Amino acid sequence: MPNPRILILALLLSATPPIASAQPDAEAQFKRGEKLFAAYCARCHGKNADAEGRMVKRLYRKLKTQLPNNFTLGIYANRPAEYLHKIITNGGENHSMSKYMPPFGEELSTENIDDLAHFIKKAPEKYARHAAPQPGQEKSIT
Ligand code: HEC
Repeated sequence: MPNPRILILALLLSATPPIASAQPDAEAQFKRGEKLFAAYCARCHGKNADAEGRMVKRLYRKLKTQLPNNFTLGIYANRPAEYLHKIITNGGENHSMSKYMPPFGEELSTENIDDLAHFIKKAPEKYARHAAPQPGQEKSIT
């Protein structure tokens, strides 16, 4: 009779593959990007990539500053991965954009940032249905 604690441990470990594991195919890369996005970006860019993160509700509208971008918009499918990679690495301020887009080059590996760029390019396919603002939720900052 196998030790049930070891069985449970094995199940838990198998359910959470490490984010950095090198899986070549696009779907695996999207999933890795999605996890990273939830951990590092969703507080501003929103858990559905729709720019409705909790920081937006609390802070951005008060500051009346540039809002985080909405990655459910179709235009992101055509954004070059290199462009996305640069902004994520260096932050907004280094590219004449908002200083409230932080640089992630020190916190995240190049592979992680590639995964995030891939996720952003594919996000419109998965998250587009969340894009339409609900009545009273329009993103006006005036
Ligand atoms: C503290 C809030 C905040 C966090 C966290 C954040 N962002 Fe941003 N991001 C912004 C803001 C604000 C902008 C808009 C910059 C502008 O337009 O001036 C932005 C812009 C961007 C852009 C440029 C999009 C475009 O159309 O040019 C990319 C790409 C981006 N963020 C990716 C990410 C990724 C990936 C993460 C997580 C690793 C992340 N951001 C985390 C606030 C944030």
